[in-house]
Amino acid sequence: MNRLLFVDTSPQNLAAYSMLFVNNANEWECRFVDSIKTAFDELSYSNFDMVVTDIKMPVLNGVPLLETIAQMYPDIIRVVLIPSLSADYPKHFVKYAHRMLVRPDSYEKLEVSVSRIFHLYKAIMRPQAIRFIDGLETVPSLPKVYGELVAELESPQPSVKKAGALVAADIGMSASILKMVNSAYFGLSEKVTSPEFAVSLLGLDIVQGLVLTAHLFSAFSSAETKLLQLETVVDHCLITGFLAKEIAKHENLPTPVVDALHISGILHDVGQLIFASHSPKLYRQVIDIATKENRPLFEIEQELFGATHSEIGAYLLGQWGLPESVIEFIAYHHTDETPDYINLELSILKAADFYSKKVLPKTEVNAADTSEKIFEKSEFLNSKKEEWGTVCVSAIQKSTMKI
Ligand SMILES: [Fe+2]
Ligand SMILES: [Fe+2]
Repeated sequence: MNRLLFVDTSPQNLAAYSMLFVNNANEWECRFVDSIKTAFDELSYSNFDMVVTDIKMPVLNGVPLLETIAQMYPDIIRVVLIPSLSADYPKHFVKYAHRMLVRPDSYEKLEVSVSRIFHLYKAIMRPQAIRFIDGLETVPSLPKVYGELVAELESPQPSVKKAGALVAADIGMSASILKMVNSAYFGLSEKVTSPEFAVSLLGLDIVQGLVLTAHLFSAFSSAETKLLQLETVVDHCLITGFLAKEIAKHENLPTPVVDALHISGILHDVGQLIFASHSPKLYRQVIDIATKENRPLFEIEQELFGATHSEIGAYLLGQWGLPESVIEFIAYHHTDETPDYINLELSILKAADFYSKKVLPKTEVNAADTSEKIFEKSEFLNSKKEEWGTVCVSAIQKSTMKI
C-alpha cells in the first residue's frame, strides 16, 4: 500500500483530492490535511511515501513545510503544485521539492501525474541520485527567460516577435542559441542571425529546449569545454532531437508528442553536463575509463558517482517543472525496463540516440554510451531497426547537414 499525504488550504481542492485514487484503493491510501500542523501530526503518526502540497502553504515558525519534511523525512517523495512555470513562486522551494508540478487543468490529470511521478521515483530515481543533486552547493536554477517564454507560449496569441525579443534581451543566451541553431545539425539552409528568426524557424517550444541547454552549457569555461569535449555532447543532443522528431513524424504521432520527443532529444544527456560542471576531473575519468574499456558512460558514472546522467538530468528537469513526458523519456533512456504507456516514444528516443552516434564523427565522448545492444534488449525496437534507420539516413540526406 502506498501512502500519500495531500496538503492544501483550499477546502474545494481537498474535497476534490479525496475523490482521487478511490478506484485504486488497494494500491493507495491517502490523507488530506489543510494545515501544516495537521500535516506534521499525520507524519508523526505513520509513514508516508509521498507528500503533495500546494505552493502557497503558509510557513510554520518561519520555515516552509517542505524544508522541514526534507530534513526530518528525507525519503518521502516531495511534490509541489505550482500554477504555471511562469508564475512568480518562491524559488527556494526548488531545493526542497523533488518535483515541481504545474497544476493540471483537471483533477483526473492530477491523479495520473501523481501516480506517474510516484512510479518514476520508485523505479528510477534512486536515493544516491537525489543525494547527489541535493549535495551540490549550487544547483543551476531555471533560467528566467524560460519562464517568460512559457508565459508567451501560454498567452492567448503567442507572438514569435515577442518571444524572440525575450531571448535577444539576454545577450549571452542569444549568442549561445544562435551558435547552436547555426550548427550543422539543425539542417537549416539559411544562416540565422536573430533570435526572432530562430524562434520563427524552429518554434517556440524547441527554442525553450535550447534555452535550457545553453543555460547549463554556460556554466563551463572554454578550457573545461575542450577538456571534456562538451561541444560534442551538445551536437549529439541536437542531432538526437532532430532524428527523434523525424522518426516520430514517420510514425504519425500527434504534434505535441513529436515536439516532446524533439525537446527530450535535445535535453536527454544534460545530466552529463551537470556531472561535468560539478566534478570536471572525475568526469574526465568517467570518459577515459568508458573509452578504454569500451563501456557505456552511464555504467562508469554509476561506479564513480553512484548515479547516472539519465537520473541526474531527469531529476533536475523535474525540479524545474518540465513536462512529465519529457522527464520520463530522459529518466528511462538508458534503462532496459520501459513502462508500457511510453514504449513507442521511448523506443524512438533510444533509436535516435543510437543513430545520432552513427552519423557523428567518432569521438571518445560519444563512442560507447549507446550501443547496438539496445536492439537486442527490446523485440519492438529490433523490429523497427531497419525502418527507422532508413528514416534517419534519409532525413539527414534531405537536410543540409554537413556531417
Ligand atoms: Fe545518455
Ligand atoms: Fe545520448
